[in-house]
Amino acid sequence: MRILVVGSGGREHALCWAIAASPLCRKLWCAPGNAGIAAEAACVPIAADDVEGLVAFARAEAVDFVVVGPEQPLVLGLVDRLAAAGIKAFGPGAAAAALEGSKGWMKDFCARHGIPTAGYRRFTDPEAARAHVRATGAPIVVKTDGLAAGKGVVVATSVDEAIAAIDAAMVGGAFGKAGAEIVVEEFLEGEEASFFALCDGEHAISLGAAQDHKRVGDGDTGPNTGGMGAYSPAPVVDAAMAARIMDEIVRPTVAGMRADGVPYKGVLFAGVMIGAAGPRLIEFNVRFGDPECQALVSRLMSDILPALVASADGELRNFHLRWRDVVALTVVMAAKGYPGAYEKGTEIRGLGAAAKLPGATIFHAGTAASGDKMLATGGRVLSVTGTGRSVREAQARAYAAVDAIDWPGGFCRRDIGWRAVAREDGKA
Ligand code: AMP
Ligand code: GLY
Repeated sequence: MRILVVGSGGREHALCWAIAASPLCRKLWCAPGNAGIAAEAACVPIAADDVEGLVAFARAEAVDFVVVGPEQPLVLGLVDRLAAAGIKAFGPGAAAAALEGSKGWMKDFCARHGIPTAGYRRFTDPEAARAHVRATGAPIVVKTDGLAAGKGVVVATSVDEAIAAIDAAMVGGAFGKAGAEIVVEEFLEGEEASFFALCDGEHAISLGAAQDHKRVGDGDTGPNTGGMGAYSPAPVVDAAMAARIMDEIVRPTVAGMRADGVPYKGVLFAGVMIGAAGPRLIEFNVRFGDPECQALVSRLMSDILPALVASADGELRNFHLRWRDVVALTVVMAAKGYPGAYEKGTEIRGLGAAAKLPGATIFHAGTAASGDKMLATGGRVLSVTGTGRSVREAQARAYAAVDAIDWPGGFCRRDIGWRAVAREDGKA
């Protein structure tokens, strides 16, 4: 097959790495890709949100199958445009991508179909939203309706903080159109996990769970980021909990989307809060998590490509994936300053030696080659992944690889997986 992967992050590097290993893959491109992805795929300089450019490229190169990494092109309707051009793609169409693209739509959908999630109200009027927050009290959660690059959520611990979040989005216009409408939600307590399922419009199969670390600093402190590390499987999602998430959240969602005339195909990423009463949905994403994807694909034994194609073809019923009996743990290395302002163009050395260490794989997220030098070009730059028989071993291997990388311009958290290691030690 001739395959195009869309995106340029660590998630897309991991997808390219897995797809390139498939005997079914004859030719692989990535748009726009990065310097690490270039080892697996031919990188083409088309932006991930350039829908027309991507469709034209796929047509010109007779691409058989397009795998879309990020949410933006999905929400913009890339999969619909490709379908209209007769090109098969992995991921939902624009209407189904509203599960991520509009939080208000998603909450109404969950209410209609009895999917357990936080209680909520939608607002287009800031004064009504303020009054609701004053009447309800804190903690309370304020979310922009539209996509805000992961920055549209404020978990407010006081009424004042919630009102400031409402004003920033609705009056200050901090998120543009995405913040013109907001959702105010009940605060959920428990332990968070990222759950993934492949869906084909009618059926769903579990890909299992991962946990990520969103805060920039050790001990889960400091500002939120896109994710500083992840590990899979997630100890909090045992087999019984995975079955509940499939039965109570994933399958009702697939059935509900079908009943509503917007069948859901692609990967469904459910952010879940596991509390005393069981799993409750925090949010849906219509794509793989980053860096969760890097940990997930590192555990996959089966060929990923037939599974992605079966999702697009509606053939996941009875589809079975095999997983390696290992833990995978990914440490994100970011440019110093991230998630604030950071320097670009600093040199990274030692990647070759680090990649040769046992159980280590290095996925690139924001790199560019300059002659024989490797330069950092993004905020999150590398996803250094270790696999092992335990969380502790996977963690030790990931950090051994991190320590072999010579990058004075970068930093990482030193405690990725701490909760799972503590749990493992408690059991041992
Ligand atoms: P989201 O962008 O929707 O994933 O939200 C970002 C983070 O905010 C989540 O990963 C949770 O840690 C937190 N969060 C969002 N909604 C809630 C909620 N209703 N209760 C508690 N925490 C939440
Ligand atoms: N790591 C969380 C996300 O990809 O949204």
